[in-house]
Amino acid sequence: MQTLNIIRPDDWHIHLRDNASLQLTVPLAERTFARVLAMPNLTPPLTTMHGVLDYRERILAVAINQRFTPYFALYFTNDLNASTLREAKLCPWILGVKLYPQGATTHSDWGINDINKQFENLSIMEELELPLLVHGEVTDNTIDIFDREARFIDTVLEPLQQRFPKLPIVLEHISTTEAVDWVQSMPAHIAATITVHHLAFNRNHLLAGGLRPDYYCLPILKQHQHQQKLQQAVMSKNQSKFFLGTDSAPHVQDRKYSACGCAGCFTSSIALPLLAELFSAHEALPLLESFTSINGALFYQLPINTERLRLIQSPWVVPQQYTTDDLSFIPLLAGKTLSWQCQPIEDQSNE
Ligand code: DOR
Ligand code: ZN
Repeated sequence: MQTLNIIRPDDWHIHLRDNASLQLTVPLAERTFARVLAMPNLTPPLTTMHGVLDYRERILAVAINQRFTPYFALYFTNDLNASTLREAKLCPWILGVKLYPQGATTHSDWGINDINKQFENLSIMEELELPLLVHGEVTDNTIDIFDREARFIDTVLEPLQQRFPKLPIVLEHISTTEAVDWVQSMPAHIAATITVHHLAFNRNHLLAGGLRPDYYCLPILKQHQHQQKLQQAVMSKNQSKFFLGTDSAPHVQDRKYSACGCAGCFTSSIALPLLAELFSAHEALPLLESFTSINGALFYQLPINTERLRLIQSPWVVPQQYTTDDLSFIPLLAGKTLSWQCQPIEDQSNE
């Protein structure tokens, strides 16, 4: 049986949701990840220091591992201002500000509709070196959904980068060749997260042989050649600008599996098993650790974790659902057998 012992991974893009959901999302995340960067698209969104600190308490109240560390991004709204940005920079738990183009995705109604009106805030972020985390898709309905990321890079991101050349930027959950090329052409303070589902799947999984709401996420899964480009980006020796952000995004069953299913794949528990399978199939297992456990920490100027995670090549069946008395979330690949699994934390304590 093959085993893999790596520095414990971090998830630099996760949706933990709030309140009752935390009882499911937090324990599942901390089984695999030492640190997570929790997204602020709650209702109402996380826009203040006070809101972040309260949310942090709610997360820590349900965490089992006392060393589990959640970080946060503030939601970029039209009300963002200089004093909030300066406070955020001083808060050790806040790593950046998340830009959602208004209407681009789940709970993005509070997002920005005209980035050109935000130059003052962006200039302060550049001065503070406070990262801008970007959902990179245009929202214009005349633009094909498969072209929205590439169009965003051309019309929004590239001009923004030229105007604020020192602003650290993370282009989140990239899904296209264009995004890989753009990030690779930029200096070191511009990087990208990549999800497990964009690495493992393409739009055939979503559309061929029947519509599959379980694979519906945003940015939408693209053609196979884009998936291959993402795989090459993380499986090459020159992959330091790319790091894991699962975008694990649970939605309650009725909302996800309905005539109009919500965007998001709940992948916390399958992330590392699926990555191990993928990297192993490409004979790239030695490159997995930098993608999951090193590149992101270096980008955010945080220490590398000292704890480790052991993966074993031993089949397991992904649960049909994760439930509490109050709710139920269906993981991506529910009921499927995966060939790698994470060894439970309690079995790793002697290492
Ligand atoms: O698929 C997605 N789900 N993409 C996002 O950008 C948001 C997320 C969510 O919050 O459900
Ligand atoms: Zn997300």
